[in-house]
Amino acid sequence: MWLYEKKLQYPVRVYNRDLRMAKFLMAQYGGPDSELSAAVRYLTQRYTMPTNKAKGLLTDIGTEELAHWEIIGTMIYRLLQGATPEQLRREGLGSYFALHDQAVYPADANGVPWTAAYIQATGDPVADLHENLAAEQKARATYERLIRLTDDPGVKDTLRFLREREVVHFQRFGEALNDVQEEMARKKIF
Ligand SMILES: [Fe+2]
Repeated sequence: MWLYEKKLQYPVRVYNRDLRMAKFLMAQYGGPDSELSAAVRYLTQRYTMPTNKAKGLLTDIGTEELAHWEIIGTMIYRLLQGATPEQLRREGLGSYFALHDQAVYPADANGVPWTAAYIQATGDPVADLHENLAAEQKARATYERLIRLTDDPGVKDTLRFLREREVVHFQRFGEALNDVQEEMARKKIF
């Protein structure tokens, strides 16, 4: 079960409305390597991890990714807040407005809706942990590009925090992979 804390894991400060940046941030909201993909991927894969430590790690990181998804959703909402249909149309969000108004819908920066086909759960812990290592690096790289796409110091600050967490997750998945491989060698599970 989860307990909800009515606050963000890291503050969101948006100094100026920026419709284009809202669109770019959708990459991490509903894209293939988004926070949503990360959360669903880890919370799905955890059942078939061979150790309680690895199950616990996937639950922890999956839960944290949901908190990151909330941060990204909040940023998008604030960056769009108060925009007129005309402004949205001018900034390339006309079709988004037609479909969703100012709702924060899980689609990528090109408007492609999120799909579970973005993630894998093979039932093989070594394969799944390798997918997760790659996913963390892809999310880190996406954050680095997003940081370069904004001049807003508040948005940059929050994105830097999220980037840093991807680096920590990558390290923790690396440790989990070593543990799981040792455990499998000990029990001779091949
Ligand atoms: Fe992550």
